[in-house]
Amino acid sequence: MFLGIDIGTSAVKVICTDGAVIHASATADLTLQSPHPGWSEQDPEAWWTATCAALAEVGATHPLDQVTAVGLSGQMHGAVLLDSAQHVLRPAILWNDSRSTDDCAELQKALPDIGTLSGVLPLPGFTAPKLMWVAREEPQVHGRIAHILLPKDYIGLRLHGALVTDRSDAAGTLWLDQGARRWSDAAARASATDPAWLPHLADGHEVVGQITPDAAAHTGLPAGIPVVAGGGDAATGAVSLGAVEAGRGFISLGTSGQLFVAGDAYHPNPAKFVHAFAHTVPARWYQMAAMLNGARPIAWLAGQLEISAGDVIALAETAKPARVPIFLPYLTGERSPHGDPHIRAGFFGLEDATSRAELCRAVVEAVAFTFADATESFGNTIAELPHLAAIGGGSKSPFLLQLIANATGRRIGRTVGSDAGPAMGAARLAACGTGAMSLSDLGAQPEIADWFDPERAEELDTRLQRYRAVYQALKSLE
Ligand code: XUL
Repeated sequence: MFLGIDIGTSAVKVICTDGAVIHASATADLTLQSPHPGWSEQDPEAWWTATCAALAEVGATHPLDQVTAVGLSGQMHGAVLLDSAQHVLRPAILWNDSRSTDDCAELQKALPDIGTLSGVLPLPGFTAPKLMWVAREEPQVHGRIAHILLPKDYIGLRLHGALVTDRSDAAGTLWLDQGARRWSDAAARASATDPAWLPHLADGHEVVGQITPDAAAHTGLPAGIPVVAGGGDAATGAVSLGAVEAGRGFISLGTSGQLFVAGDAYHPNPAKFVHAFAHTVPARWYQMAAMLNGARPIAWLAGQLEISAGDVIALAETAKPARVPIFLPYLTGERSPHGDPHIRAGFFGLEDATSRAELCRAVVEAVAFTFADATESFGNTIAELPHLAAIGGGSKSPFLLQLIANATGRRIGRTVGSDAGPAMGAARLAACGTGAMSLSDLGAQPEIADWFDPERAEELDTRLQRYRAVYQALKSLE
């Protein structure tokens, strides 16, 4: 049995699998802290507590002593800062934090070719500008940094004791020379970072440590079993779908959203904020439109209305189309395709008669529109793909997937267990680390259980044009 642990933003998810079928799974919820506007933080200790809780829940139905290897996946880009005793110095600054906007401009000036070197232009979600902010605003913290890790790698440290990351998570820092697949000292030094602070680099299937006796005591996992490096959640999601082979693509609908296409060469395309990153498997890269807001606006509205996300979607289905306002979903600014950390969300076109159902429909539609924008920013590359698979919590909704198919004009396919994508990918990398699967086995694609074919939707097209016009009109008001 292989275990996949995904350190998400809204929850830690653990699955136990033989590499194909999920035998047990559990999630433990996490909260986000935003002590100031634009800030997004989590305490790494909360990830560890949630990991232990989810493992205990899996262990209650499925003996953990049958686990033979562990793989890690996690939210990308977060800065976990440790002192020389490997203690956490401050809360982790996350992928959807926008405090370091000014530092991005400075980094771009200091290293004009950073877009080509690091695969994307500087934006505050990435790790490098966060270090510049810490150097400027918290010099007492900056002066004590001895190590920097990504979120899943902090859990790796607690499990096996090594300071290590994989190349797909390293890719999201802006410190990786994507073409050469190794750290760039120039990128580190240009962003207030001593290259000696950066962890060892591995590929995702490489065994980087063993469960320590102390971790075994806290988690119930057998001491001594191997832990592989794993990957950032975009890359592990890809592994769950066989998107390690060139030309395979998928969309992910989690707290964030992604449109991801795997390739066998490095093709930077920074103009539209399409990310070109190293994959977690050797000699592979990927292009990704990364939407900071993903399916989160649905959860946000559900929270405000004190109903479930499922209820929001059910209400959306009952809305009167002619009365649906436009919603801009940019709760935390946006990366692809706007590269705009300042924009915020808003409804446009509310009337006295606008009901909850119409608000819900506007929000659900806006999630589909972000994928239409993402598809457009890929241009012709994506037109050749036969279909896009769908993963993440939002993929549970047929209504949302049909809207996305209509708005993007692309065929969407959903696999069984699509909501467990990144954890499944991490478990498959663990299977690879033990030799139970080979790297070429990772190309196996799970069967598609449900298809969503684009339907002609002129009304939706008109609304998409309006949605784009509202963004263009509002962006200058930031
Ligand atoms: C990708 C990205 C998100 C986070 C959180 O660039 O920011 O996928 O990894 O899910």
